[in-house]
Amino acid sequence: MTDSTAPYRILFVCLGNICRSPAGENIMQALVKKARYSEAITCDSAGTMDWHRGKLPDARMRQAATEHGYEFKGAARQVLATDLKDFDLVLAMDRSNLADLQALDPNGNDKENIRLFGSYCTGNEFPEEVPDPYYGGEEGFHTVIRMVENGCEGILAEYKNKQ
Ligand code: 4NP
Repeated sequence: MTDSTAPYRILFVCLGNICRSPAGENIMQALVKKARYSEAITCDSAGTMDWHRGKLPDARMRQAATEHGYEFKGAARQVLATDLKDFDLVLAMDRSNLADLQALDPNGNDKENIRLFGSYCTGNEFPEEVPDPYYGGEEGFHTVIRMVENGCEGILAEYKNKQ
């Protein structure tokens, strides 16, 4: 039985957990706080790879965040198979991340909870996948923020609709 008083737990997942998924976690948290849903929704993020364990979000990501009025926090960690049980919604930033998450769930037990982040974006301005900004220029980090803001609004709207 589900506990109706337990918070709804959202996990954002990308490759390194230093650019896109920390953007998801921190922007969703800011939105949730602004909407006064902090008791109801909690956020975390993880990477499919372990390369940056313990690191803060990338300095370029944090700089772009500051310019958009956010302060991004966090310490990178790798996603675990148990996360698929511990979180109500696990959001992959791109299709490769989605395939890696699905590989952690070979029997498909948690498939309803694993989704592509871009499926929450509205309008036709955004691609299906959040583009990986790591090897590109500064503008890529601003694109991540704009797309993540749009998708997080969609997640919150869907959550409110279900209440
Ligand atoms: P993220 O970006 O998956 O959005 O955190 C990347 C971070 C690190 C690397 C690639 C993408 N890397 O190759 O180290």
